[in-house]
Amino acid sequence: MTDKTTMRILSGIQPSGVLHIGNYFGMMRPAIALQAEGEALYFIADYHALTSVRDPEVLRTNSRRVALDFLACGLDPQRATLFRHSDVPQVTELAWILSTVAPMGLLERAHSYKDKLARGMAATVGLFNYPVLMAADILIYDSDVVPVGKDQKQHIEMTRDLAVKMNETFGQIFKLPEARIQPATETVPGIDGQKMSKSYGNNIDIFGDEKETRKRVMSIVTDSTPIEAPKDLERSTIVELYSLFASKDELANMCDRFKKGGTGYGDFKKELFQKLWEYFTPMRKRREEILRDKSYIDNVLARGAERANEIAHEVMQRVRKAVGLR
Ligand code: TYM
Repeated sequence: MTDKTTMRILSGIQPSGVLHIGNYFGMMRPAIALQAEGEALYFIADYHALTSVRDPEVLRTNSRRVALDFLACGLDPQRATLFRHSDVPQVTELAWILSTVAPMGLLERAHSYKDKLARGMAATVGLFNYPVLMAADILIYDSDVVPVGKDQKQHIEMTRDLAVKMNETFGQIFKLPEARIQPATETVPGIDGQKMSKSYGNNIDIFGDEKETRKRVMSIVTDSTPIEAPKDLERSTIVELYSLFASKDELANMCDRFKKGGTGYGDFKKELFQKLWEYFTPMRKRREEILRDKSYIDNVLARGAERANEIAHEVMQRVRKAVGLR
């Protein structure tokens, strides 16, 4: 292994459903690119998913599937550590310690909590406390950089606030992590033009089957501009999604035809589907290979848990000593 003392990179993804292209471009692709730049730790946030998933079998299946899909997309277990959140139970201890300094007002301002309530989720203590557990996730590995989509920005700011609060109260314990958000892909739109999200039902999955994926792409919401008329490029979900997959020239070509008129939305959607499908073809192949090796995922996760525990143990010793637990 190379010397990885420089930068520690950490991120997590909830196994609350199947991964979609918003997850891919917002977090997975940047995270995969960063695995060459330091020690990367990526985890399947199953403790977090308990706030919404109530079926144990579904949670277990989704967790494995997230591991499979992340590996298929290019996470390299020789370079990065992949593990299950719940394989490092010490993180819940740190969350408790952080919660004792976390101001109620800070948590009450969390957008994500308010959004979830607005969508009808029950106001549980776990849901409210989610940002504290997320802060523990990050701080327990002395993380420097956290690649995420824009929707997680506030959570990282809260993590920094909690780290500062702990440092002011107990002396220097934690590093202050930074969010790494890619401006071009910070919020990938779903088929209705809103942020793509499993819970909004507007997702296009990374490894959906061909028929379903085509159907999702063909259902992208557009205005009713007739075929021959020029079309509005601004806020076009088709163009925005196409820009994720196409080369500069291909994108410029689509934009020209949008402005000129004479091509219907249906044709643009077919081009988008084609590009999207081709983009993920090598990853679908890799996924098949991984699936053929029955013990591969378990081995990766077991090794990941070992490394993650090593770091978490070290940091928790520092924390316990600082707060007076031992
Ligand atoms: P989650 O599981 O909702 O999403 C995983 C990652 O995907 C990003 N993402 C998007 N990016 C751009 N456009 C979209 N439409 C889009 N949808 C999702 C998210 O920003 C995220 O980076 N709380 C986190 C999981 C988590 C975590 C952590 C992350 C738990 N602990 C510690 C970082 C560090 C979440 O629910 O992500």
